[in-house]
Amino acid sequence: MCGIIGYVGYQNTVPVLIKGLERLEYRGYDSAGIACVDQKKGGLCLIKEKGKLGVLKEKLGDFTIEAHIGIGHTRWATHGEPSRANAHPHVDATGKIALVHNGIIENYAAIKSALQKKKVRFLSQTDTEVGVNLIGSYYRKSHKLFDAVKRAVVELHGFFAFVLFSKDDPDTLIAYKRSNPLVIGLGRGENFVASDVTALLPYTRQVIYLEDEDLAVITAKEISIYSLKTRSWIKRQATTVHWDVAQAQKQGFPHFMLKEMYEQPEVLKSILSKRIQKNGEIFFDTLDRKFLKRLRKIKRVSMISCGTAYHAGLVGSIAVEQYPRLPCNTQVSSEFRYGNPILDSKDLVVLITQSGETADTLAALREAKAKGAATLAVVNVVGSTIAREADAVIYTYAGPEIGVASTKAYMAQLATLLLLAFYMARGRKTIQAVELRALLREFKKMPEHCAKVLKEIKRFERCAQKHYTRRNFLYLGRGCNYPTALEGALKLKEISYAHAHGYAAGEMKHGPIALIDHEQPVICIAPDSLTYDKMISNIQEIRARDGIVIAIGTEGRKDLEKMSDDFFAIPKVPEILSPLLTVIPLQFLAYKIAVLNGRDVDQPRNLAKSVTVE
Ligand code: G6P
Repeated sequence: MCGIIGYVGYQNTVPVLIKGLERLEYRGYDSAGIACVDQKKGGLCLIKEKGKLGVLKEKLGDFTIEAHIGIGHTRWATHGEPSRANAHPHVDATGKIALVHNGIIENYAAIKSALQKKKVRFLSQTDTEVGVNLIGSYYRKSHKLFDAVKRAVVELHGFFAFVLFSKDDPDTLIAYKRSNPLVIGLGRGENFVASDVTALLPYTRQVIYLEDEDLAVITAKEISIYSLKTRSWIKRQATTVHWDVAQAQKQGFPHFMLKEMYEQPEVLKSILSKRIQKNGEIFFDTLDRKFLKRLRKIKRVSMISCGTAYHAGLVGSIAVEQYPRLPCNTQVSSEFRYGNPILDSKDLVVLITQSGETADTLAALREAKAKGAATLAVVNVVGSTIAREADAVIYTYAGPEIGVASTKAYMAQLATLLLLAFYMARGRKTIQAVELRALLREFKKMPEHCAKVLKEIKRFERCAQKHYTRRNFLYLGRGCNYPTALEGALKLKEISYAHAHGYAAGEMKHGPIALIDHEQPVICIAPDSLTYDKMISNIQEIRARDGIVIAIGTEGRKDLEKMSDDFFAIPKVPEILSPLLTVIPLQFLAYKIAVLNGRDVDQPRNLAKSVTVE
């Protein structure tokens, strides 16, 4: 939530900041702004606007700025409405220090009133302005920005990241991280800092991920990092990012979401080629011997995550119970972390997260670690906080996902969790080698099946056209496609703003059936499965009440096709693999309905891709 960027170096800073913000805008788009030191005028230049980055860009057209240091911000509002006054950067009362912030300062109210008593005037409702003024109050005494930040952050409660500079020293940026992500990009004669690596990709692949309580001093030539944890200057290892710049661009697609949907077969292919060895064994390169030894002693598993990743966890949990035969609990991170979970060293807690930065999932990880459980992160973003803090990590290799509504990252999470379940089953000998081989043979066909579904998806467009003005949708599924129903409903809600509800089909009789009439579309996810006949009975019950049936089923199922108003066929696959296919038409349906309603698909209102506040 909120994207921040800083630059110091030989280039003109404004285009660098703007290009970076374009790539960070998925983190929030309530307002945007930049601050820099104009070489010609010498003073602090602050330009910010309410609304998306486009509004700021237009405004910047009125200025010619030549600057070599600057910070930029794209906001997802927490404290204070989206407005120009609340937009970042914020400047302290003396007008010398400019700061951008991601996160929440929890004790801002108390500090604000203490500062007000000292006659500091505030222009916004934000916690950020309190932070910059506290730093400013110390700066006035010492005239050393580094020391001022070091003193101030100790007094600030909450989780946040800052990037700031003072116009008195227009060669130095200061960055501080507590929980919320910050990554430094290393250049030649220039350096960068941003909330995530996608903003740095056009300039450098060499990065340093800051750790919690790191205070970095960044000049064009040098990076120095002081750890407030160890109270010493430290060296952090630089790593090389392998993501492709092109992956973070639309490449001719009207929206990132559509492009990312079409990337799903490739994502599956690359996961399978990395995870299934030539000898047919499943392999996770990042799990070392010590962790594998621990894994063998596990008696219970928990899958913990938020949003779309939670739905992947539900599928993973079914696979863990079915294959390695381990009891598995699935929970959203925010509930898990405050639920005083019963955990010990025989528990494995799997944290599933695309960004690796979600605040609730990070808190859940810390809770699980504190209670002695083994923790395994299933993460997309390499080097993210959760990936680094967990006992072990498995990367999902979906590549950068920009669309706020997750598609290919979900696909990658599903595939990874299924492979993990099969792998654990092999270790626990709850699956025969021959059965596993047959399952993996089918798995290897999934990229092709996925591509076929995408090739035929346009046929489903008519269905979206028929129903796009409706405001209520019901999604039903059973077994491992009950999570698909939840995910389909979430996709539609997120980007079309229509109300959608996912339900276990067997539960329909216990409430949702009351909704059914001739105006109620019901999306029924009914591929061939153990409970296919039960799904058919549920569909009959909907038809008997005049409901509109939109069905996803296995090709050749004429019975299902006949009883549906719209039918989309997927190839025949083993039930446990079917969620990898059934979700695609649902992503497409949500996408089309959103487009037909004129919604901003990649940046839906009120949402952010990376939720770094609780
Ligand atoms: C936000 C995003 C979702 C995502 C969820 C969890 O709500 O909009 O797409 O599923 O956060 O994010 P994570 O990065 O932990 O997977």
